[in-house]
Amino acid sequence: MLVLGIESSCDESGVALYDTDKGLLAHLLYSQVDLHADYGGVVPELASRDHIKKITPLIRQLLAGQNLSLTDLQGIAYTAGPGLIGALLVGASIGRALAFGLGIPAVAVHHMEGHLLAPMLEPSPPEFPFVALLVSGGHTLLVEVKSLGQYRILGESLDDAAGEAFDKTAKLLELGYPGGPILAALAEQGEAGVYRFPRPMVDRPGLDFSFSGLKTYTLNTWQQAAQTQQDKANIARAFQEAVVDTLFIKCKRALQQTGTHNLVVAGGVGANRCLREKLSTLEASVSFPRLEFCTDNGAMIAYAGAMRLQAGESEPVRISPKPRWSLSELSKN
Ligand code: KG4
Ligand code: ZN
Repeated sequence: MLVLGIESSCDESGVALYDTDKGLLAHLLYSQVDLHADYGGVVPELASRDHIKKITPLIRQLLAGQNLSLTDLQGIAYTAGPGLIGALLVGASIGRALAFGLGIPAVAVHHMEGHLLAPMLEPSPPEFPFVALLVSGGHTLLVEVKSLGQYRILGESLDDAAGEAFDKTAKLLELGYPGGPILAALAEQGEAGVYRFPRPMVDRPGLDFSFSGLKTYTLNTWQQAAQTQQDKANIARAFQEAVVDTLFIKCKRALQQTGTHNLVVAGGVGANRCLREKLSTLEASVSFPRLEFCTDNGAMIAYAGAMRLQAGESEPVRISPKPRWSLSELSKN
């Protein structure tokens, strides 16, 4: 079955072709980073308008690159949430209308299910059951994944998501946009052991997270420092170490609690080198998607949609994007 995937939940337009026999054929991504850079963050209305401009030409380019045409498609998967409502509406409208016009099934994909299945696109995919650490700009989740569609949330962030904490801290330090990768790059130049930031909530039982206090800690530390470029790098390093260590401790706990030996790491913060290195030291089999599939992309949506379409799922001729949508609502018993 040849499936077209469309991702438009935030500031990336992503499209991909996944074939259930041949695997991922191709994917294309257009990032709106330059568009939002002047504003220091994503402007939702600009994001929606840009998705309208980019998605249709991207689909044409994707098919042409494979010498395929629209009539070769057998299913369409689009991100239906969670995300920015306007941005979601664009991908959902294009995907659903295209499927209706072509007389093929369409399926609404949960963005975080896409992220957690992204490592399945790698040559040695993880085996079920596994624990997934989903760390993106909007979510920090630890999920027990028994099989496709069987998700139990073990823990989540009570305030800022890990990526959000990176972005907001980068803003406090006036590092520019997008903050996460810039802060991570600066942290590489920081000296070890100059500062030690707290590891929030690790002394309490449970698997929830809280990252918002680290922003204040960063600001206070910066205000008390001499404010040289090296101080900034040292603070960035200490912040990153605190987030990474906290995620590491909770992942270890989640694996112990579930008796699972497989860990999957996904979402934008999964691209963080320090996090990847630290989690690789766990006594478990740890899978990461390649860097380009950690952040938002169409390939993960095409894959998740293909699995659901193959299992016989499809949507009526109606779209209902959900800006808020818990992963646990997907689980069938
Ligand atoms: O999954 P994603 O592309 O979009 C969402 O669904 O949110 O994640 C984006 C988040 C942003 O907060 C970004 O700053 C963060 O991932 N991020 C990183 C790195 N690369 C992206 N955070 C830390 N280190 C990185 N290398
Ligand atoms: Zn995402």
